Amino acid sequence: MSGYNTPFEALGEEGIRALTAAFYDYMDSAAQVADLRAMHGKDLEPMKERLAEYLISWMGGPQTYAEKYGSMCMTTPHKPYAIGSAERDQWLLCMDKALEQIGADDALKQMLKQPLFAVADMVRNRD
Ligand code: HEM
Repeated sequence: MSGYNTPFEALGEEGIRALTAAFYDYMDSAAQVADLRAMHGKDLEPMKERLAEYLISWMGGPQTYAEKYGSMCMTTPHKPYAIGSAERDQWLLCMDKALEQIGADDALKQMLKQPLFAVADMVRNRD
């Protein structure tokens, strides 16, 4: 993983799918994120697909998510859920663990740190 300009170039579609699978597998098993898990439906498989499609676009790949669902804005789809800083931080923890799990290097983690925080904090709709 070196000589890339976007996270999509570093990971490719396959890598992003692996990241998303690791993200929800962690969410499904770790006590630290039980509250976040409880907000989600029983079957996480459809969410793996949705988040993968989103991240493929968000990380600089083909704009499939926007074309399919009409928008990259995450505020509206999250309105039904009460998301505060605790939920945001659990979401970010799942992402940290998933990046670790797929063997992302430090440069990639660094490249993603601020933008991931920004998008997760944007979804927050209460303190
Ligand atoms: C910050 C904390 C967040 C929480 C607590 C949260 C929680 C949720 C929940 C409960 C759902 C519905 C899942 C279901 O139907 O089973 C959902 C959907 C979704 N989330 Fe999040 N989410 C967060 C942040 C994010 C972020 C930052 C992204 C993108 C980078 C994202 C991407 C998605 C996508 C793509 C969907 C499917 C939305 C749709 O197309 O209807 N989420 N989220």
